[in-house]
Amino acid sequence: NNPPYPAYRATEKGSFAWDSTVRRWPIIIDSAVNDMQQAVSNISDTNDTARAKKDEGKTIITAFEQLKQEMAEDKTLRLLDDNDDDCNTWNTHIGQFFNNTTWFGGSWLFNECYMYRRMHELYKVSKHWQDYDVFNNQKIATFRGSSASVFDLATKMPTMIDSALSMEKQELVFQELVQVCLWGNATDLSLLTNMTEEDIKRLQAIEKEKLAEQLAFVVVNHIDQLWNKLKHLENGRIDFVLDNSGFEVFVDLVFADWLLQTKRASKVVFHCKTIPWFVSDVMPKDIPILFDCCLDRDFFPNHPSSSQLDALATMVNRWQSCVSSGQLVIQSNAFWCSGLAYRMLPTEAPDLFADMKASDLVIFKGDLNYRKLVYDCQWPVTTPFHVAIGPELADGFTSVLSLRTNKAETIVGLSDAKKRELEATVPDHEWKCTGKYAVVAYNDGPGS
Ligand code: F6P
Ligand code: MG
Repeated sequence: NNPPYPAYRATEKGSFAWDSTVRRWPIIIDSAVNDMQQAVSNISDTNDTARAKKDEGKTIITAFEQLKQEMAEDKTLRLLDDNDDDCNTWNTHIGQFFNNTTWFGGSWLFNECYMYRRMHELYKVSKHWQDYDVFNNQKIATFRGSSASVFDLATKMPTMIDSALSMEKQELVFQELVQVCLWGNATDLSLLTNMTEEDIKRLQAIEKEKLAEQLAFVVVNHIDQLWNKLKHLENGRIDFVLDNSGFEVFVDLVFADWLLQTKRASKVVFHCKTIPWFVSDVMPKDIPILFDCCLDRDFFPNHPSSSQLDALATMVNRWQSCVSSGQLVIQSNAFWCSGLAYRMLPTEAPDLFADMKASDLVIFKGDLNYRKLVYDCQWPVTTPFHVAIGPELADGFTSVLSLRTNKAETIVGLSDAKKRELEATVPDHEWKCTGKYAVVAYNDGPGS
């Protein structure tokens, strides 16, 4: 598990890893504390069970404060102490790869994953809060704010999947959808501590002209290679390793629907997280919640018209029937919530690897999936994408696509010219970490 270049660590003052550890993580934990305080105060202590639940809720709040303290004091990562299915695996990884590392000194990527797993531990050892998703309210509230783009897409959808479209027109639709799916990744609640809601709304815009302008910010652009793969694909299987709930998974569903309706795919598999993760990541239960929100005619603000509401309902009803018929499979695996790089997939989750290998294309969404895909470390930025994902995923897997807005220093696949242009014109932090730039990185799998 040793990366070829040094990992990013919070010991480097001023780095994004350092900023995350000293500033962003405490804010994220504070938001969880606020949610818990609300949840606890909503319990009316009328009986013993309610009182016990309330007490446990307060214990979790205290433990969150202790967790913050532990980070601030740069304590050593301790083993996990719950009996959840992945507990032993986590402890093995800590022992094997990250023994005696600390919150600042260890790998930033592993530590951040560990932080979310530690938060989960508090719920797992409780009696009354086992399945509580402390980020659920934030996920739903932010989706409510995405209504303009949601209705735009729902209204356009019948034209986009019209079977009479010529191949040229289909290519234009594809170009738009890939970009919508890409910029949907801006809606990441763990970065809301850096971005304003206005920034996010701007990046969510889906008008053609805006998308064309935004292309200038795609610093690695393999959209044409992807079209070559998809153009003539018939009844294939496409997998999505999902990232965020709300607007991002909504646009993933739009893209998946287009793949199914144009018969490029007969099966789409959505891979979700098993636990509340990086604030807004999708768990399987979030998808029916999103369907319900869309079908609730009072959910979105500003009184949408009945034709908008009908267009959305038609689309979401179709999504529901795709789930019922098995065309759209929603599943999760603890591997996605480990702290390891994805090149460990064949050894750490061999059944999942063997199953996904049968797919025609695996789409990895978002920043964290990208970092794990390319083995989060200080690669020279011109390292080819297929080198960074490692031989396990480059040569022994299937075709891989990453749709990622750049929210951390790790980046590969740049041409020399692009590297020179960016370095001469944009501060490093700006194009690497703010989410305003992006990559569409593709690697053809064996046999493609
Ligand atoms: O905090 C680490 C990080 O990868 C950030 O760079 C990013 O803000 C966040 O996690 C998650 O982003 P995404 O939802 O796109 O994976
Ligand atoms: Mg995320």
